[in-house]
Amino acid sequence: MITYFLTSVLMLLSYSSITFSNEIPDYIKLCSRNDPKVNECVRNTVHNMRPYLKNGIKELNVPAMEPLYIGDLNILDGGSAGISVKAKKLNIYGASNFEIKKIKSSNNAKRFDFELNLPSLHGEGNYEMNGQILALPLKGNGPFTGNFTNFYAYVKIIFDVENVNDVEKMSLKELRVKIRTGTGSIHLQNLFNGDKALGDVVNETINKNFELFTNEVIVPIERALEKKFSAITSNVVGSFTYDQLFPA
Ligand SMILES: *[C@@H]1O[C@H](CO)[C@@H](O)[C@H](O)[C@H]1NC(C)=O
Ligand SMILES: *[C@@H]1O[C@H](CO)[C@@H](O)[C@H](O)[C@H]1NC(C)=O
Repeated sequence: MITYFLTSVLMLLSYSSITFSNEIPDYIKLCSRNDPKVNECVRNTVHNMRPYLKNGIKELNVPAMEPLYIGDLNILDGGSAGISVKAKKLNIYGASNFEIKKIKSSNNAKRFDFELNLPSLHGEGNYEMNGQILALPLKGNGPFTGNFTNFYAYVKIIFDVENVNDVEKMSLKELRVKIRTGTGSIHLQNLFNGDKALGDVVNETINKNFELFTNEVIVPIERALEKKFSAITSNVVGSFTYDQLFPA
C-alpha cells in the first residue's frame, strides 16, 4: 500500500514538472532531496494526497486504492501439511486510511524506508481449500470476508540513478514489503459444503489463532504487493529524471 502511494507521488511529481510546470495542483508539494526536513515534507505530501489516491488518478494511470485489487493468490501450497488454500479475486478495503508513522529517506532520496499503520482493513473474495488435518478432510470453496485491525506495513524502496547522455535517469533497484499483522477475524462461508458444525470448528480455530494464521498467509500477499508495485514504480521512474522527481 505504501508503495502504491509512493508510486503515485512519484507519478504526480514527475507529471507536474513536465506538464503542469505552471500549474502544480495545490495538493502536491514537491520535496527537494536537499531539504533537511525532506522526511516531513514527503510525509505531508503523501498524507494530503490520500483522498485523491482513494479514487485513483485517471490521467496518470493510478488505479483507485479503494478497493485495492490483489487478485488470485496461492496462500498455502499443499506441501508437508498437505493443505492447499487459494484466494481468488481478493479485494482489500480501507487501505487509503493509512497513516505514515515513520519515514526515513537516505542517500539523497534514492532510498525510502516507511512504517505505516493501517487502522482498519476489510477483505473480500473467494477461497478454495483442500486437504486433511489429522483424519479430517478439510474442504470447501466459497466467499470469505475478513476484518483486520491495526496492521503495519514496512516498505523499503531503493532507486538507481544512472547518467545517460548527461541526463540522470532513475530506475527501481529494489522494493520490499513486510507486513506486521494485528488482530482481526475471518469468515469462510460454505466450508465442508455448508456443514455448519465442521465449518464452525474451522472458523473458530482460525480466529483463535488469528495471529499465527495471518503470519502464515501474509507472505504471499507481501510478494504479490511487491510484484504489483514494482511494475508500476519501474514504469513511472523509468520515464523521468532524478531532477524531475526529486529536485535539488
Ligand atoms: C467485520 O466487521 C463488520 C462491521 O463491523 C461486521 O458486520 C462483520 O461481521 C465483520 N466480519 C468479520 C469477518 O469479522
Ligand atoms: C463458520 O463457517 C460456517 C459454515 O460455513 C458459517 O456458516 C459461519 O458463519 C462461520 N462462523 C464463524 C463464527 O465464522
